[in-house]
Formats: sequence, C-alpha cells, structure tokens
Amino acid sequence: MMVLDGKIASAAVKEQLKQQTEQLRAAGKRAPHLAAILVGTNGASETYVASKVRNCEEVGFGSTLVRLEENVAESALLEAIQALNDDPGVDGILVQLPLPKQISEQKVIEAINPAKDVDGFHPSSVGKLVQGLPSFIPATPYGIMLMLEHFNIDTKGKHAVVIGRSNIVGRPMSILLSSNLAYGNCTVTICHSHTKNLAAFCTQADILVAALGRPEFVKADMVKPGAIVIDVGITRVEDATAKKGFRIKGDVAYAEVAPKTAAITPVPGGVGLMTIAGLLKNTLAAYQART
Ligand code: GUN
Repeated sequence: MMVLDGKIASAAVKEQLKQQTEQLRAAGKRAPHLAAILVGTNGASETYVASKVRNCEEVGFGSTLVRLEENVAESALLEAIQALNDDPGVDGILVQLPLPKQISEQKVIEAINPAKDVDGFHPSSVGKLVQGLPSFIPATPYGIMLMLEHFNIDTKGKHAVVIGRSNIVGRPMSILLSSNLAYGNCTVTICHSHTKNLAAFCTQADILVAALGRPEFVKADMVKPGAIVIDVGITRVEDATAKKGFRIKGDVAYAEVAPKTAAITPVPGGVGLMTIAGLLKNTLAAYQART
C-alpha cells in the first residue's frame, strides 16, 4: 500500500510556483495576487482561508483578505466583489463557502469576473470544463488530478466511482476523470444520496473518490482489493481528548481500508493540501492570462 502524501505532492507543485514567481520578479514584473473574501467567523472557513493566504506568501504571491460580518447584506458582498473585479492588481478572487443564509451563493459566484474565477465555480468556467476547453478547474478536483500526476497513477480505462455530486468536488471530479486527459480517460460512475446499493458500486471501483462529507463512511467491505482510494472528507468530529476539542476525519475509515488498497490519501495531509496547490496554480494562470 502506498500513501499518497499531499505534503510531498503539494511541496513539489509549490516549489515550481515559487520558482516561476521568482523569475517574474527578476524580470521586474509584479507577483500574482489572490484576494479572498471571508464572511463571518466559521471556524473551518477561517482555517482554510488563513491557510490559503499563508500559502500565497510561501510561493511569493501577494494576497488580500477581505473580512465581512456574518450579517453582511448580499448587496455589500456583491460590491466588495465588484471592487476586486475592478482592481487591476488582483488576479484571482475567491469567496469562501458556505455563506450565511441571507446571501445567494449563486449570485455571488456569478458576480466574480470569469477571468478572475480561480475557484472555477462560475457557470462560464464550468461550461468550459464540460466542453474540454481551457478553464479554471475547481481547486479540489484540480488538486486531485495533480496528485494523480505526481504519483503517476495509471487511470486510463479504469473504472472510477465518485461518491458525491457537489459543484465543488464530485461533479467536476467526474468530468475530469472521464475527460481525454493524461490522468483521465476513466469510465466514471457518480453515486449520491439516492444511489441504491452504493456498496455494490464502490466494490467495483478501481479508483474510489469519497466526497460525500460523512466521516468514516467508506468501510473496508466497500473497497475492492488493490483500489486507489482518494479521500476528500475533512469533517471536524468532537473529541474531548484532542487539544482543539475536535479531530479531522475523512470520509474513509482509514485504519481498516488502507491495508486493502494499492494507494490511499491520508486525512489530514492528503487532498486538503492539494486543494491549495490547485488554487495557487489557477492564480498564476489567471495572472498569465491577464498580463
Ligand atoms: N468551501 C469548501 N471548499 C471550498 C473551495 O474550494 N472554495 C471556496 N471558495 N469555498 C470552499
């Protein structure tokens, strides 16, 4: 069994980005710049956004964090996005999801200039992705593709089963794995909350992507021996014995599943780190297209 270590794969991607940024700076150009908007004080969102900003610094990108109150009006958030759309020094814009109830996520996603849509959630980006045109790929599926590439996982002709159909992970993941790409060309099955006999699909998967957001949902008897297992889950589960009062759990029961697999991503230290690598690559791509 091989551990698909996100620390190793993301460090490789980040080192390359750092060198590219140094070359830009050496040529007298400005660095790529990511702007993140965080609404409210959701603990997990705070952690993710802080990590995104910190990683920008690590590779030499500029970053801006815009913080808005939990009760901010939708119109004020849309104005903040417009200001970033209009700012020539900003290459990429992301609004951390989820958003409070008074705000339409769809309106927010559509307000971002598609040229700065480094999350790849705008319908224009999604449409391009579906048609196989160059586009911003949502960061988590992009990170998983970078992981498959880093560890040179053979995907061609394999049966991939994706559990979860979210716009952030499951749906774009299914499109990428079925696309005619170096680490695509899979036959893909998408499973979701209405799938009957989910385990029967999972046990047929050469590549199993768990992106349903239910801690330790995938058990050993749902996994084919020798499968590649990609765990996208990052749920905080209360644990009084942990320093922070919670532990991060993946969607896969790692201890019992890992010995059965050919390769598996750990949680934490797997897909989460690759998500940031994907976001940074999108930010550089946005910069290159704009300058
Ligand atoms: N919430 C969970 N994942 C993501 C992501 O990739 N981008 C944003 N903006 N919000 C998220």
